Amino acid sequence: MAEDLIKITGNKSEQYRTLMPQIKALMNGESDAVANMANCCAALHETFAWLWVGFYIVKGDELVLGPFQGPVACTRIPLGKGVCGTSWKEARAVLVPNVEEFPGHIACSSRSKSEVVVPVLKDGVVIAILDVDSETLGAFDDTDVTFLTELCTWISDCL
Ligand code: SME
Repeated sequence: MAEDLIKITGNKSEQYRTLMPQIKALMNGESDAVANMANCCAALHETFAWLWVGFYIVKGDELVLGPFQGPVACTRIPLGKGVCGTSWKEARAVLVPNVEEFPGHIACSSRSKSEVVVPVLKDGVVIAILDVDSETLGAFDDTDVTFLTELCTWISDCL
């Protein structure tokens, strides 16, 4: 099944509420984690026009780049490093309104101005993270954390 996304309008919450069932439908009946992560990235990237949307997957003592949409990115991130490594180490979502004010931020693209990272948890353990970057300062808030966290539970089920 591959369809165009339904045209999405409204404020951010309304956009998520229209988008999430479509992502769920895309994942329905597909158990492959890479396929589902790839479609999640494409749907989010197309809907919100964010700079970068992607997953990093925990492999040993590093996060390794997984499916993404956007400019090329760094491939490996150690535990505790950058925003992604912090989200992994602390097993929590990390909102960064201004990347220049986050100590240790890893600048994969100089165009990134703000960022949100949400962990994918399985049995309380971080197995991947979802990273989103915007070219706008302060682009993300608790609404993004709420919806992206729900999306990460769907990915957890197939990862
Ligand atoms: N900025 C991230 C690195 C990943 S890129 O943004 C795709 C970080 O500080 O962990």
